[in-house]
Amino acid sequence: MSSGPRPPFDATALFKYTESPNPEWKFGDGMTLNSPQAKQWKEDEKLGWRTWDMDETPKPARYQLLTSAIGPRPIAFVSSLSADGVPNLAPFSYFSMVAHDPPLISVSFSLAPGKPKDTRENIRLTKEFTVNIISEPWIEAANATAIDSPPEIDEWIVSGLTKEPSEVVKPPRVKESAVSLECELFHFQDICPPGSDLVTNTLVLGIIKKAHIRNAVLAEGGNSVDPEKLRPVARFGGQTYARLGDGFELPRPSWKRVQDVVYGLMGKPNGVNGHSSS
Ligand SMILES: Cc1cc2nc3c(=O)[nH]c(=O)nc-3n(C[C@H](O)[C@H](O)[C@H](O)COP(=O)(O)O)c2cc1C
Repeated sequence: MSSGPRPPFDATALFKYTESPNPEWKFGDGMTLNSPQAKQWKEDEKLGWRTWDMDETPKPARYQLLTSAIGPRPIAFVSSLSADGVPNLAPFSYFSMVAHDPPLISVSFSLAPGKPKDTRENIRLTKEFTVNIISEPWIEAANATAIDSPPEIDEWIVSGLTKEPSEVVKPPRVKESAVSLECELFHFQDICPPGSDLVTNTLVLGIIKKAHIRNAVLAEGGNSVDPEKLRPVARFGGQTYARLGDGFELPRPSWKRVQDVVYGLMGKPNGVNGHSSS
């Protein structure tokens, strides 16, 4: 990564669909060497691997390594209220969708001794929050809310973003967000390292009660979100954010359609029991 001056953000670089990297790929092919990038990837194997033993890796080094290796991560921009009603807004990238039945998301809070996270406290006490998805046009405003300010500071004012009332939870949602999820606390799990009773993280599961999606980002048909229109921002390690590059579609393989090919690869052209089912 170069560290010199950066070119301006290219707001015109739109997400578009392309072919997949190896459109000719067949079952059993492994990695095909059909492009200079793929050939280089294969060549790089010769450089070998470096291995970190997590038990022997200091915490800051683990953080640096894992947040850069496990990415890009989606970001939950969480709006919550303290027990006495002070609004709070902060981004969290230890975030994922857990299930759609019930509709669950997870957010995880890293806790340094003596430094509680207001969002965690608010969710623990009020059991409500909203998760908002950040899009490119207002990323700086969202990033500003990660400021390490005292609890009485309202990050909404720091960011200049706009509160929009929620329907079933008290914390507002972010009006600038194209996707806002009204959540109730489903599970609150403090996490201690093995052999310790010091809480270093809290995993929160939230059940989504309402999803608000801007009409302008809906895909044709209106039942899903179009990535080109959403322009979501994700998190990598350090201070790095990522945007979507191009996308491609790959169908999920169907056993019914490919079983003969797979049995052929296994040297059992007639299937495991001598005949393949259809
Ligand atoms: C993009 C981004 C992602 C972050 N992800 C997390 C996270 O997953 N967990 C966490 O504990 N802190 C995370 N942080 C740090 C919190 O946002 C930061 O500590 C914030 O001040 C917490 O606010 P609060 O105390 O008002 O809840 C992240 C910061 C940024 C900028």
